[in-house]
Amino acid sequence: MTGYHNLLIVLLVTLSIFCFCDISLTKAQNGGIGVELIHRDSPNSTLYNPNETPFQRLTNSINRSFRRINHFYPRKLEETPYPQEEITDANGDFVIKYAIGSKHLFQMGLVDTVSNMIWLQCQYCFSCYKQYFPIFDPATSTTYENVSCSSDACGSIPNRYCTANVCQYQMKYVSGAISAGDVARETFSLGTNEPNKFISFPKVLFGCGHVNSGITSTSFAGIVGLGPGLLSLTSQLRNSLFNKFSYCLVRAYESNHVSKLNFGEHAIVSDPGTVSTPLKYGPKGDLYYLNLEGISVGGGKRIDHEVEADLANDQGNVIIDLATTLTFLPQGLYGALESELTSRIKLERVRSPIRSLKICYKSTLNSIEVPRLTLHFTGANIMLNRDNTFITVKDDVVCFAIVPSTGSFVYGNLAMRNFLIGIDRDKNVVSFLPTDCSKR
Ligand SMILES: *[C@@H]1O[C@H](CO)[C@@H](O)[C@H](O)[C@H]1NC(C)=O
Ligand SMILES: *[C@@H]1O[C@H](CO)[C@@H](O)[C@H](O)[C@H]1NC(C)=O
Ligand SMILES: *[C@@H]1O[C@H](CO)[C@@H](O)[C@H](O)[C@H]1NC(C)=O
Repeated sequence: MTGYHNLLIVLLVTLSIFCFCDISLTKAQNGGIGVELIHRDSPNSTLYNPNETPFQRLTNSINRSFRRINHFYPRKLEETPYPQEEITDANGDFVIKYAIGSKHLFQMGLVDTVSNMIWLQCQYCFSCYKQYFPIFDPATSTTYENVSCSSDACGSIPNRYCTANVCQYQMKYVSGAISAGDVARETFSLGTNEPNKFISFPKVLFGCGHVNSGITSTSFAGIVGLGPGLLSLTSQLRNSLFNKFSYCLVRAYESNHVSKLNFGEHAIVSDPGTVSTPLKYGPKGDLYYLNLEGISVGGGKRIDHEVEADLANDQGNVIIDLATTLTFLPQGLYGALESELTSRIKLERVRSPIRSLKICYKSTLNSIEVPRLTLHFTGANIMLNRDNTFITVKDDVVCFAIVPSTGSFVYGNLAMRNFLIGIDRDKNVVSFLPTDCSKR
């Protein structure tokens, strides 16, 4: 059987597929399942604040990066217990548009690859923050179902409790943010690669949040978790979507080019030039990890990551996180990298306009001459571009956007731009293909 027939059968069997804009099945699948990953600071985002300066947006994204990393749990399993089930701030850099319920109400959800649940604000609101699209009201949808306390689905909810035999969730973030309410099932619709065409997935388990507070940036309806945990969107749709997804982030989110998130067969990354590294899941099995062995600067000597003996495990050492802007490296590796890099840049350092970025030069991103870094992951060498590692902070100041961390290590989204990145949980590999993402 051809892949085409397989896909058709899988779609017919596992989805009650329909489209609310008159699309034929063949068309949907030729177009693939793909959604725009909208950077929160792009003018097309509902989170866009026209009153902010580019410098403020950058400072905010850097602050968000540090808030996220500070909230990741410790690397060593012995450093548990984890008081919270969600380890990050309810925040991030990218949103996607999806539709919910029998009436296909549009919502904007923050996508998070380290989050393992889906939740959104629901009417009736005991406490809701302002969001751009109308808040979903389950009473207006014929496909909404509460989940009973005795169901298996309820048993898999972290921090669950029970009210009148309706399973309840309570998502508490380390930042103090909370979303709580009914655990329910509903139809979620995702876009295809064809404009305004959507495919619906029935009975997706999610949190219908009637109490939502402490969320610092508003406009989005909630979180769409893409993590490896049982209740993420990607895990729930794993059979329909072949257990894989990919994304391609454009370089400049101010432009009209869009970043993409693809699911299913369209998420296979295999063109010539693709490199792959094993996908790991961390000590708790709930995050996407890679194993970083070292870094080299220009064509120079490779700096190895000296793994502390007690951390040596086969779970990977760097979290791959779509929602964090910066990249955070172990202090030892970072220190060696910094001295090698700065010794090779023949420019005068300037005082950093942002305290948390230390290495800055008076130059522009288009003219600065810096050696290219290569990340050596197990089995995959990834050569970063200048704009994966340096960022314009002010008109004539650029700073190095990789920073040291004493906690978790993160491969952030700036360093992922202009790579097509495929996360394949069937094969347990992450693939990278250098790509002009604005042309994909
Ligand atoms: C970012 O964080 C720093 C220190 O935590 C703070 O001084 C600054 O005001 C924050 N910037 C923004 C834009 O929130
Ligand atoms: C779901 O449960 C809530 C109480 O938690 C209730 O108010 C609502 O009517 C229920 N909805 C349905 C469709 O059963
Ligand atoms: C942004 O919105 C404008 C008008 O609403 C639209 O023409 C344009 O295609 C959008 N751009 C992207 C990248 O979605």
